[in-house]
Amino acid sequence: MTQVSLARFLIEEQRAGHITPDLRLLIEVVARACKSISHAVSKGALGGVLGDAGTGNIQGEAQKKLDVLSNEILLEANEWGGHLAACASEEMDHCQPIPNVYPKGHYLLLFDPLDGSSNIDVNISVGTIFSVLRCPDGISEVRDEHFLQPGRTQVAAGYTVYGPSTMLVLTVGNGTHAFTLDREHGSFILTQRAMRIPEDTKEFAVNMSNRRHWHAPMQRYIDELLAGKTGPRGKDFNMRWVASMVADVHRILTRGGIFIYPRDKKDPDKPGKLRLMYEANPMSFIVEQAGGAATNGYERILDLQPTQLHERVAVFLGSKNEVEIATRYHREAQ
Ligand code: AHG
Ligand code: MN
Ligand code: MN
Ligand code: MN
Repeated sequence: MTQVSLARFLIEEQRAGHITPDLRLLIEVVARACKSISHAVSKGALGGVLGDAGTGNIQGEAQKKLDVLSNEILLEANEWGGHLAACASEEMDHCQPIPNVYPKGHYLLLFDPLDGSSNIDVNISVGTIFSVLRCPDGISEVRDEHFLQPGRTQVAAGYTVYGPSTMLVLTVGNGTHAFTLDREHGSFILTQRAMRIPEDTKEFAVNMSNRRHWHAPMQRYIDELLAGKTGPRGKDFNMRWVASMVADVHRILTRGGIFIYPRDKKDPDKPGKLRLMYEANPMSFIVEQAGGAATNGYERILDLQPTQLHERVAVFLGSKNEVEIATRYHREAQ
């Protein structure tokens, strides 16, 4: 059987009218940058890339060397191609317009350059998450506010997981598809077309150490899962938590499950931990395109109107029926 490379897949999507030539170029460039990040990540201690950078980001997190390096790789790869108007990143205070020496395009690119970076020093899977929006018409100077578009307007989203193999998972609004990096030839090869998340599951992913801080509907939902076969749900549930969203979501895309990072009482001012623009929106688009669901406990994530670039949000995503139950418990408690 002939292998379908990412390049060929994208050409075919373009011919079918699903993407423009510029969006094809953009995705190719992001994939190329992810290959460089994959290379840097896999060198580990030998590449001198582990450990803290000694700096912090706007969200108050200590940056790892690889957070900073991955951010630079993505910026450099994307600035000269002419397909972008600006980039925004978890690791930058504000959006970065394309330098004036290069032509400007019609897309906005957002990324979490290295997701799960607390796992990097212990050799556990990390990833890159990205989201593509259209730049509003008639903008001469792009500012943060131009990125504040609901997730449903994304034209593409994807992530790369740097695990035992490096995989790129992508949607352009026509299903969710997975590609595996062929290291010998340096290209991503389509290994799963039209991924589907089972509607029912017996697996959940949550950081249980936060249990005492949760609100009542979240306590109720997890208590019922933990009650197992003899409880109200009538089945036993298994738990997994990698603490790299890419790895947890990748497992859910592969075999089902529900991923939860709720709002809690520990930090009442924060509406959750994960970032709407770099994590929740792209992952929700990917999950919905694979037949799953994603809410903040009350509303569909893709319908939320962002108010800040670095906004945080509660996340419930994955197997449809499970997300519906968790969401119903939250709505009932309102
Ligand atoms: P990042 O490394 O990009 O800052 O994201 C980390 C996120 C996400 O990947 C993961 O699901 C979550 O943080 C883990 O949080 P806890 O350490 O609180 O479990
Ligand atoms: Mn971070
Ligand atoms: Mn992240
Ligand atoms: Mn990150």
